[in-house]
Amino acid sequence: MLTKQYIKELKNNGNGDLSHLIKEQKDIASINFILEGLGRLPDSFDSSFLYDLLRHKHAQVRLNAVKNIGKLNGNANISELIKLFHSETDTSVRREIVSSIGRQRNVANKPFLFEILEDSDPKIVCQAIRGLLVFNNDKIVKSKLEPLVNHPNEMVRNVIYKEYFASNKNSKNQMNHADTYDFLKNVFVNADVLETLRNVPDESVHLTFTSPPYYNARDYSIYPSYVAYLEFLDAVFKETHRITKEGRFLIVNTSPIIIPRISRSHSSKRYGIPFDLHPYLAQNGWEFIDDIVWVKPEASVKNRIGGFLQHRKPLGYKPNSVTEYLMVYRKQTEKLLDWNIHSYSNEIVNESKIEDGYESTNVWKIDPCFSKVHSAIFPDELCKRVIQYYSYKGDLVFDPFGGSGTVGRVAKKLGRFFFLTEKESVYVDYMKDKEKQNLFEQERQIQYLNLNEFKKKANENDIN
Ligand SMILES: C[S@@+](CC[C@H](N)C(=O)[O-])C[C@H]1O[C@@H](n2cnc3c(N)ncnc32)[C@H](O)[C@@H]1O
Repeated sequence: MLTKQYIKELKNNGNGDLSHLIKEQKDIASINFILEGLGRLPDSFDSSFLYDLLRHKHAQVRLNAVKNIGKLNGNANISELIKLFHSETDTSVRREIVSSIGRQRNVANKPFLFEILEDSDPKIVCQAIRGLLVFNNDKIVKSKLEPLVNHPNEMVRNVIYKEYFASNKNSKNQMNHADTYDFLKNVFVNADVLETLRNVPDESVHLTFTSPPYYNARDYSIYPSYVAYLEFLDAVFKETHRITKEGRFLIVNTSPIIIPRISRSHSSKRYGIPFDLHPYLAQNGWEFIDDIVWVKPEASVKNRIGGFLQHRKPLGYKPNSVTEYLMVYRKQTEKLLDWNIHSYSNEIVNESKIEDGYESTNVWKIDPCFSKVHSAIFPDELCKRVIQYYSYKGDLVFDPFGGSGTVGRVAKKLGRFFFLTEKESVYVDYMKDKEKQNLFEQERQIQYLNLNEFKKKANENDIN
């Protein structure tokens, strides 16, 4: 029977036994089992049978043979791999060949890797770049790679940008990543979001969680057209991008909405807000990370299926909408998440760790919340999850469409600071009333400010 131990013994004996063993195998799975079980290859390893396998009719066998040849380091016969590359049609094998040649770290392979930079498969180009970056200080390598910052493929562009251009870019803000301005902490501004943000410094918030107006579906906001609505949100999220710290998150809660028909002879109109908003965000430096689906109980949503229940006619099917989206974006950066995390002290990291019972899927079942004052408030549980999963204690959490202040209340409870804007005073007053009940919480009192009061604070902080 074939065992890993047996394969290891044959490998270390270093002669033709392995080649016989492979010839004896009747099925492809066993050949691959042997090739995948070889691990590190000793210097004395007789590799000739691997080159025979480069002509095997099964792509997976060729791929495993290439992988093992790649482990031979200085002893690999690269010309055989290059020959195969030019006749190979399987994409995975082609990629593996370039990767194996790159791993040789041999200057003699540079011309082949240069040639591969022209390949039509972006993943192969990336493999070639990887192999060439080993010779980063070589002027010719640099001159071949730098122009790829204009490559049509985004993956290629990003790698080159990160390697050659990003480190020259100084962050505008010299403040520590984990810190922010005191004058923004626990502040609720009763004013238009765009006017307010003009007075907020670059890179000052750690997380934004918000639910924008639902186009013209609710009374509190009216826009002349859907395009005007999207352009307004575009402006808000551009500004949000400016004030967001490097590599931090924006989570936007939206859902498709329906504007009822004006009469029986017209149809109602459905607008796919999350899908229409996405291209604006992606174009403005927000990198798409995840889509979380918030699911509500069917009994809590408007009944649309009633008509169908009666007539059962195809095309007239209108399911009850029990979902909303939480679209998760990250401010584009060449830095990894670890860079963000390492900006915090061990103490803060430990205190912010999320306990057992967290949601492990992107489907969040949470009951909605209803209020007499505001028609679309966040459930506390929704805010709690977002704030805990996407911020650290002491962070500043922003909501441009603050409404009744749910994000603020929950952020404060979780040891974060908040900064909210909301244009309607009735909602701001609602939060004021709710918070009055927390008389014992004296730590960093909440400030409710109008635009002029906020501008004054910003000026005192000399940020303009
Ligand atoms: C969907 S609600 C947010 C509700 C909030 N998440 C809560 O839990 O109460 C959107 C809010 O955005 C506010 N809003 C609309 N346009 C605004 C603007 N230009 N500036 C500031 N707030 C605005 C509306 O008044 C409304 O309260």
